Amino acid sequence: MKVSVIGAGNVGGTLAQRIAEADLADVVLLDIAEGIAKGKGLDLSDARYVAGHNRRILGTSDYKDISDSAVVVVTAGLARKPGMTRVDLLKKNAAIMQTVIPLITEKAPDSIILIVTNPLDILTNLALKLSKFSPKKVIGMGGVLDSSRFANLIAEHLDVPVTSVEAMVIGAHSKGMIPLTGFSKVAGKLLSNIVSAETCMELAHATAQRGAQIVASLGQGSAYYAPSAAACSMVRAIIKDEKTVVPACVYCHGEYSIEDACIGVPVRIGAQGVEEIIELDLNPKDKETLINSAQSVKEAASNLL
Ligand code: LAC
Repeated sequence: MKVSVIGAGNVGGTLAQRIAEADLADVVLLDIAEGIAKGKGLDLSDARYVAGHNRRILGTSDYKDISDSAVVVVTAGLARKPGMTRVDLLKKNAAIMQTVIPLITEKAPDSIILIVTNPLDILTNLALKLSKFSPKKVIGMGGVLDSSRFANLIAEHLDVPVTSVEAMVIGAHSKGMIPLTGFSKVAGKLLSNIVSAETCMELAHATAQRGAQIVASLGQGSAYYAPSAAACSMVRAIIKDEKTVVPACVYCHGEYSIEDACIGVPVRIGAQGVEEIIELDLNPKDKETLINSAQSVKEAASNLL
């Protein structure tokens, strides 16, 4: 089993490490900056002995090395700088997508493509169109990261183990994300029954701001530990055919009254990619936000074609 990671920056390199160390698959780490991909590949390979796994990690700039990948994760692109929104990255990262996606479809036509590059939802819409793949096979990673952040903030606020929290964030991976306080639980109890509506709002707001908070703190670059952990969990779900339900940016065709757009919704993920879209009974406000987000990312993506 092979997983390729396009882009050997912080997210790509850390993701390669997580996949290999979790013994999920051999990894091809590809970057147009050959030296960075090669250097990280050699370094990760040297770590195998002490990290205790036999996975092969190849750093390369040659797309022929990604052939036969089960999953190709796209992390290539610029990261935000302090004060930037994810959409500020659109022009440059869309151009990268226009180069990268046709190469993936040519060299790894049977793969599932997992998009991580921002702005996530617009670029997932673009990648689906460029790839001409089945919509089941093009997935964007946003909701798992946002849910992990939401879970962490809930756990810290209530001083409970994060493992006792179930959190769900749908919608766009942007400030318009929708942390579902009515579907998130702590030790089996609904969050909205444990904390006040005001606290729910504050936790939801802090979740939406978390990426920007990290960008501002780092001073250069953006988050990568949680993004790579989120991407790795989705790779695992595909490789191991787990069929777990996670929020992810996928193509909707009538679900949630969304027509022909990729947006973050709960989905069952397995070896076939998107195996089912789960339709939650959202409140009218969240449903409207979701539909509006889908419409705006769809328009932004079609302007790029
Ligand atoms: C973030 C970027 C990676 O949310 O989208 O940190």
